[in-house]
Amino acid sequence: MLDVRQIRNDFPILDTGIIYLDSAASSLTPEPVLETMLEFYRQYRGNVGRGIHRLSVKASEEYERVHGKVADLIGAKSRAEIVMVRNTTEGINLVACGLKWKKGDKVVTSIIEHHSNFIVWLRVRDRRGVHVEVVRPKAPVEDGILDPADFAKVIDDSTKLVALTHVSNVLGVVTPVREIAEIAHEHGAYVLIDAAQSVPHMKVDVQRVGCDFLAFSGHKMCAPTGSGALYIREELIDEVEPLCIGGGTIGDVEFDSYKLDESPRRFEAGTPDIGGTIGLGAAIEYLQRIGMENIERHEKDLVSQMYEALSELPKVEVYGPEPERRVGILPFNVSDLNPHDVALALDVSADIMVRSGHHCALPLSKSILGKPGSVRASVYIYNTREEINKFVSTVKEIAETLAK
Ligand code: ALA
Repeated sequence: MLDVRQIRNDFPILDTGIIYLDSAASSLTPEPVLETMLEFYRQYRGNVGRGIHRLSVKASEEYERVHGKVADLIGAKSRAEIVMVRNTTEGINLVACGLKWKKGDKVVTSIIEHHSNFIVWLRVRDRRGVHVEVVRPKAPVEDGILDPADFAKVIDDSTKLVALTHVSNVLGVVTPVREIAEIAHEHGAYVLIDAAQSVPHMKVDVQRVGCDFLAFSGHKMCAPTGSGALYIREELIDEVEPLCIGGGTIGDVEFDSYKLDESPRRFEAGTPDIGGTIGLGAAIEYLQRIGMENIERHEKDLVSQMYEALSELPKVEVYGPEPERRVGILPFNVSDLNPHDVALALDVSADIMVRSGHHCALPLSKSILGKPGSVRASVYIYNTREEINKFVSTVKEIAETLAK
């Protein structure tokens, strides 16, 4: 069980009375994480991997320890497999720019992807002559459920990579990543998972998922903005060219040549976000103390409550599958109202924060929902059943007073 009351004490911003239902965009940050970051800035503010003095040594130890914490969180075999990045987007771009593509290679992805796991592959197509195959969900398409059989039809021996979201950031639907990864590997393809909406909310194990690359952001899981990680399976480290090289990435440099360091250093050029990464480590510990299974169960309860109540409201259209197949994300529209107007009305009339618009997934909005946008409510560890009640009654009021 998860003690929401206790958890809420760690988020003083909630004392202002706001109801924060936008954690899929970015979560709030708890005090223990902020304190750990302040400790770095106040007590051992030095650079990492570059000094012999005690501040630098302590900063380096703490920074490097986070690689181990991430490895432990996602079941990676070693710290060498964990590269610190600014966010999921950077992690995916690192793989896209770093893999050794050849003309005729194929990338298989899906229509429900976030732009960061979609336009990246279109750019590889345009630059490298790679073919991109986009799989659509099975009927009813609005549920966004991907069928491994549809992937089996398009993954072949020319497929170099299958790039797939673990959880849709719009529909909240969980994708059958493991089954699809098995099909990909039968054809010698690599598998990249966009785990931005899964790692913060459930137990994710890269061995179980069977992926070769996995990227996630810290800012959606109680860590500061600008922190995140990319998992690269050990055997593939030499298959990926670093996005940036320079200070901190070298084994040796001659006047006309250089040798890169081992992973992860070779991928982490320049002074990294030390404070942010240390904050990510604290956030991982914070979430692990609560328990990833407890977090998943709590969110499932809230999203079920929200799904059932909203589905019953006249003039409200809810998108995506039944709660069993989704995490704590719920998109909807109120009649013909502009989603931004609904979001604004929720904020102004009841201090409720939600996201509205296309949620950085235009192909999904246009071709699956057939709408330019939607209102999206998303829950996390600090949300309560009372908050969901208030949210639902405010949506009802908006529907009754503003919608035709
Ligand atoms: N990717 C984030 C979202 O879905 C920003 O809102």
